[in-house]
Amino acid sequence: MPVSDMQLILETAGSLKEILTREIKKVPTLRGKSIVTLFYEPSTRTRTSFEMAGKYMSADTSSITVATSSVVKGESLKDTALTIQAMGADMVIMRHSVSGSCHFLARILDCSVVNAGDGMHEHPSQGLLDMFTIQQHKGGHLEGLKVAIIGDVQHSRVARSNIWGLTKMGADVHVAGPATLIPPEIEQIPGVTAHDRVEDAIRGADVVNVLRLQRERQQKGLFPTIREYSRIYGVNRERLALAKDDVTVMHPGPMNRGVEITSEVADSDHAVIEEQVTNGVAIRMALLYLLLGGAEA
Ligand code: CP
Repeated sequence: MPVSDMQLILETAGSLKEILTREIKKVPTLRGKSIVTLFYEPSTRTRTSFEMAGKYMSADTSSITVATSSVVKGESLKDTALTIQAMGADMVIMRHSVSGSCHFLARILDCSVVNAGDGMHEHPSQGLLDMFTIQQHKGGHLEGLKVAIIGDVQHSRVARSNIWGLTKMGADVHVAGPATLIPPEIEQIPGVTAHDRVEDAIRGADVVNVLRLQRERQQKGLFPTIREYSRIYGVNRERLALAKDDVTVMHPGPMNRGVEITSEVADSDHAVIEEQVTNGVAIRMALLYLLLGGAEA
């Protein structure tokens, strides 16, 4: 995604966020537009925030739960998507375990397709909401900031979308975690430095973004034990003290408290984890508005 597109989405989210503070959170912007969420993997934040974003802008939203859909009777992704489009959907928002599946859908459908997370590849709206949150805490800019991304980078689409977005916007990204969970090619991306020790990534950081340990995507043997992982790679108060005094702590959720992050850090004044969720609604409103060509908000 070009920098100009990211800037437009971030600016649009900045304008639309005000709607979330109104007593009546409803504007007619997307009246008559139909949005369908199609999630092949579990979600609390992404799915609900896309649906709430649509409802706040007066779109008609429907949700397909794969477990109770014709997918369980063997219907293919392609046939499922064409069926949704045939009902008149203007947009399909999909999460799928296979990397590239949203790109596949975008090539076969005429309506808009939004990637809500595809395998280990990308989670673009999470990357955007994370950048938006950082901007709000760091004087509106990303350029020159040291952002530490800690943990299971290998299996994290959140990490990939953050890294692509942040480096394009001029941030300095430092990653750390077990060598088995850091992709070796990561340092080939300009602006990314990989560290063996979490302490080295966190030292002097403006932002620490902690990743969920994705046990459901891992084969066995990538690290000794959860207790060992937490002891060596977990973000705790002592490690956080190495960052700048005004460090911002982020986590995309859902959190494994006591594994990749201690409750002491997650509940500290530095943490903006719930704010990330609120900003997720603003970013998703911006995406719906820009893609569905809404009227004035
Ligand atoms: N951050 C994130 O994608 O959360 P969900 O899995 O709850 O959507």
